[in-house]
This record gives sequence, structure tokens and C-alpha cells, in this order.
Amino acid sequence: MKAGTGLVSALALLLLMGAVFTQRPRPKKPTRRPVTTRKPSVPQPAGPAQPEPQEPTDFPPPILGPPSMYPDCPRECLCSPSYPNSLNCENRNIRVIPVIPFRAHYLYLQNNYISEVTPEAFVNATEVRWINLANNRIHRINKQVFEKIPALLYLYAQHNQLKEVPSGLPASLEQLRLSRNRISKIPAGAFNKMGNLTLLDLYNNQLSDSDLGKNTFKDLTSLMQLNLARNILKKMPAGIPSSLIQLFLDRNNIEDIPKDYFRDFTHLAFVRLNRNQLSDKGMPKAVFNISTLLDLQLSHNQLASVPLFNSHLEHLHLNHNSIESINGTLLCPFNLLADLSDDSLVPKLRYLRLDGNHLSPPIPLDVIMCFRHLRSIVF
Ligand SMILES: *[C@@H]1O[C@H](CO)[C@@H](O)[C@H](O)[C@H]1NC(C)=O
Ligand SMILES: *[C@@H]1O[C@H](CO)[C@@H](O)[C@H](O)[C@H]1NC(C)=O
Ligand SMILES: *[C@@H]1O[C@H](CO)[C@@H](O)[C@H](O)[C@H]1NC(C)=O
Ligand SMILES: *[C@@H]1O[C@H](CO)[C@@H](O)[C@H](O)[C@H]1NC(C)=O
Repeated sequence: MKAGTGLVSALALLLLMGAVFTQRPRPKKPTRRPVTTRKPSVPQPAGPAQPEPQEPTDFPPPILGPPSMYPDCPRECLCSPSYPNSLNCENRNIRVIPVIPFRAHYLYLQNNYISEVTPEAFVNATEVRWINLANNRIHRINKQVFEKIPALLYLYAQHNQLKEVPSGLPASLEQLRLSRNRISKIPAGAFNKMGNLTLLDLYNNQLSDSDLGKNTFKDLTSLMQLNLARNILKKMPAGIPSSLIQLFLDRNNIEDIPKDYFRDFTHLAFVRLNRNQLSDKGMPKAVFNISTLLDLQLSHNQLASVPLFNSHLEHLHLNHNSIESINGTLLCPFNLLADLSDDSLVPKLRYLRLDGNHLSPPIPLDVIMCFRHLRSIVF
């Protein structure tokens, strides 16, 4: 019984590609084409990929651009007259951040070989709003940097070598991306006073339960997206702001969820707990009966039964668990025999994945009768 499996595999593939290719590759040395007359083109076999340079001495030299119409434009960067507030220094093999001109609001420094962020470059950079430092070699961000740029809104420092969350982050921050580092420490008060932060991405680090205290996130009263996937948590993190809309905890070692864990959330719509150690024992019966929830992903766990969910839920991923049977009558968020002339009472579930369990067709009739909006079910 397969409906929409093509869609599923396409979707899965897309997601996978998204996870693997979120970064642009490092710049290759520009290979100059010899100016010759036309030659018949012979297809060349793809050579082996260039190894990533390890030592600073292996790094290719910085790429210098032509002189700019702006005298304050660093030679490593491009300053476009159409975007006078942007400083484009990405993909230039930069090792040291150049002195940032006063007019710069948006700094693009991604895909370089920067190893440390120190305040010297920022003496005049008081107007900076966004910094993209993704895909460098940064192991330290000196906290005095942030004293120079008090109005910073976005800090993107994913795919670096940070071992802890930087200290002294400005209270003005709205987005903080620190995924794909080696973070195993969050200094006390690291997120204090950040009442405007809406996105915090700590995906793919080395955070364990003891790194997340009850008060770690307490000031983040505007937080909407929290990504703690691919860490080494065994417990659900405590003290998560109730403003959250998206909570991603995939690929940890979480075994159970406290009974009232989601009780105070008022906007929670997306919860991902794929690839954890959840079993029926660790999951209170109605823990996911959350009326704001639209998308719940619990694939690759050890669940033996389908958890109870609210009639507003639209997407449910339960693939690759140990589910042996599914009882639509039990599962149905309303009484199947009740009068259903009122369509608003019909459960909203549209997409259900149950593949990789111990189920065999056919899909039980009570499931089909209850979930009338189902467009795709993967069995
Ligand atoms: C800082 O900005 C001022 C005013 O634009 C300029 O005169 C000065 O040279 C700048 N200093 C540095 C270190 O760039
Ligand atoms: C938070 O955002 C509001 C509204 O944009 C702004 O007035 C306030 O100054 C911001 N807070 C900080 C600490 O930057
Ligand atoms: C689930 O939540 C609804 C409110 O959205 C409530 O009426 C219902 O009793 C809950 N069911 C269980 C089993 O907790
Ligand atoms: C499903 O659950 C209902 C209510 O507990 C029960 O009456 C029914 O026999 C079950 N159906 C199956 C196929 O086990």
C-alpha cells in the first residue's frame, strides 16, 4: 500500500541534500584558461578532489580585487556602489578580517580562512547589523568585538571551530547561528537580556544535559526557532521559552519526555525528535496533544504504538519505529460515530508516514474513516 512514496523519496532526498550541502564550497584557486584557438573538446575524467588545506602555510593567498571607488574599501573585499552599506569579502581566502569601514552595515566574510575575531578590525564598525562568518576556522571570538558593534542583529558563525558560545553577545541580537562547531560549553549568562532573539541554531555541536541549565534560555522571551539537533542530550532541555514555534531535537539520545513538558507552550507548531531513543515507556500518553502543533516528527525511535495527537495536527512522521498495529478508533481525536456534518471537527491530518514499522496492509478502515483529509499515507 503505497500512496505518495515518490513524493516521500523526493522529499527525503531534498532534505538530505539540504543537510549535506547547506554550505557553499570553498573557493578554488582561479584556474586561468589558456587563450588558444578552438580545440576539439575531449571529455576529461573528473580528477580526485583537492585536499582541504590544513596548515595556514597551505592556505591559498588572499584574492585582492581591483581598487574601489571607495578609498576605505579593503582590497580583499568588493564594495558595490549599488549597495554602499554592504562589504563583500566572501570567498577571498582571507585569514585576518580587514578594517571595516564605518558605512558598512552588512558584512559578508563567509568561506574564508579566518581563525580568530579580534576587536581591531571593528574600531570604526559601529553601524554593523549583520555579520556572516560561516565556514571559516574560527576558534575564538574576542568579547570586546561586541562592545564595538552594539546594534548587531544577525550573527552567523556556523561551520567553524568554536568550543563555546561566545561571551558578551549584544542584547540586540535577533538571529544567532552557531551550528556545526564543537561547542560543549555555554558560559553562564551567555544569552542573558536577549529579549529580541528569535532564532538560535546550535545544531551539530557537542552539548550535553549538564550544559543546559534551567536558566540558560530564561531571557529569550521572543525565541521562535531553537535547533539543538545532533548534540548528545539525554533529556529534554529544561526552561525552553514558551514562545517557541519550532523545536528541533533530532539525533540526540533522548529517552523520555516529562509529562507536562509542552503544557505552557502557546505557539508550538513544529516538533522534531527523529533519531532518538524514545519508547512508549518514556512517552506520556497525551504529551503531544498540543492544539497548536502542525508537524510532529518521531521517526527512527522505538515506539510500539501511535501517540495520541490533537485534531489540528497536519503532518505526522512515525516511520522506522516498532509499531505493530494501529487502531483508528482509539487514535481518532473525535467520536467516529458522532455527527460529522461539521467539517471543522474532522481531524486535519494530511500526511502520515508509517513505513519501516511492523505493519502490514491493508490500512485499517477506521483510520481512513477518521482522517478524511489524509492525502498521503506511507505504509
Ligand atoms: C574611522 O572613520 C573615520 C570617519 O569616517 C575616519 O576618518 C577614520 O580614518 C576611520 N578609522 C579607521 C581606522 O578606519
Ligand atoms: C528590541 O527590539 C525593539 C523593537 O524593535 C527595540 O525597540 C529594542 O531596542 C530592542 N532591544 C534591544 C536590546 O536592542
Ligand atoms: C487533548 O486536547 C484537547 C484540547 O485540545 C482536550 O479537549 C482533550 O481532552 C485532550 N485529550 C487528552 C486525552 O488529553
Ligand atoms: C480498537 O479500539 C477500540 C476501543 O478500545 C476497540 O473496541 C476495538 O476492538 C479496537 N480495534 C481493533 C481492531 O483492535
